[in-house]
Amino acid sequence: MVNVAILGYGTVGSGVFEVINKNNSHISRRAGDDVNVKYVLDLRDFPGDPVESVLVHDFNVILNDPEVDVVVEVMGGVEPAHTFVRQSLEQGKSVCTSNKEMVAKYGAELLKVAKEHTCNFLYEASVGGGIPIIRPLNQSLTVDHVNEISGILNGTTNYILTKMSEEGLKFEDVLKDAQDRGYAERNPEADVEGYDACRKIAILASMAYEKQVDYEDIYTEGITKITKEDFEYVSQLGASIKLLGKAWKENGNIYAMVAPFVINKDNPLYGVRGVFNAILLNGDMLGDVMFYGKGAGKLATASAVVSDVVDAIKHKGKIIMTFWGSEKRTLGDINDFAMPYFVRVEGAGREAEIEKVLDNVQFISAPADSKVAGTETAFITEAVKGADLEEALKGFTVVSKIRVSQ
Ligand code: HSE
Repeated sequence: MVNVAILGYGTVGSGVFEVINKNNSHISRRAGDDVNVKYVLDLRDFPGDPVESVLVHDFNVILNDPEVDVVVEVMGGVEPAHTFVRQSLEQGKSVCTSNKEMVAKYGAELLKVAKEHTCNFLYEASVGGGIPIIRPLNQSLTVDHVNEISGILNGTTNYILTKMSEEGLKFEDVLKDAQDRGYAERNPEADVEGYDACRKIAILASMAYEKQVDYEDIYTEGITKITKEDFEYVSQLGASIKLLGKAWKENGNIYAMVAPFVINKDNPLYGVRGVFNAILLNGDMLGDVMFYGKGAGKLATASAVVSDVVDAIKHKGKIIMTFWGSEKRTLGDINDFAMPYFVRVEGAGREAEIEKVLDNVQFISAPADSKVAGTETAFITEAVKGADLEEALKGFTVVSKIRVSQ
């Protein structure tokens, strides 16, 4: 029998408990051994809940029990999660986690500690919730050099942008509705400012490009400035706006960023609606491959965590090689990278002035019934560096400026 301890009985932790118990014989058969939850750690009590019989309040009970083979960390936050995970690995207990903050910050370190103690540190659920992306990246896509990864990595913001796009609603109104329905957190900053997506693209970039990408180095812009009017313009082009996490290789440099992008209908990410996530990867041999599914939610995320538990059991005494070294990756400056932009400036009829400062612009008129019709000039630029665009638009009042995905 393999004994598992779950750290944290919140949404994901209770999901892991439920998944292991509900699909127990199937999971045990796949793991090649009976899987049993021996402990659940939480500060709270849960009177009447089936977890009561295995609930403990002291992490040392788990750490010092040699019968515990696998620790599932689903507490969230960096500390004490990081310390508990490190101590577990030092005891030779494999750890499976959904904690993206901790993985982004300490992934390389914890993989090294796991290797030193012949156990595994697994984190499938830290990116894309229930979508298998970490294991495919590590174990299936072993042949290709990754040219680019581009993902819708945050369900809350994708839900908000989908509603704004399809129902013509304002950011504030959709956010409030999402909070009332429990999709968005009461403090939505990590989602709407792009910080959550930034942690996730840092993990993917560290794995794809084999060195530690620090999330503090990633240019990150959220969706709070996107307006109903931006959608009115781009929908006329058959396009939409999505928050993308991107990492790519160009001229020997690695770049990474999180920002809203205008994307066209022919982009496979265009059709990713609501709380769904997707990761589009381009390999030098494979070409495009896309991973799509539920990026959050109790059972979907728990399914990914428990798939790691099965993998940890199958690899007991063996190390699953992961090419994420601790050496820091210095990222290229995204301001040196030319991209097309969708721009709105104050004042109608400014086409001639704009053509004087920018080449090859494509002008877009606002729909006649838009409140901004006749008050602005809007256009899409050719690929231009951020600093050059800013310089060119010095004499204009910019209402909105959003990158266009190529
Ligand atoms: N807040 C995250 C999201 C949860 O909205 O995608 C999953 O990481």
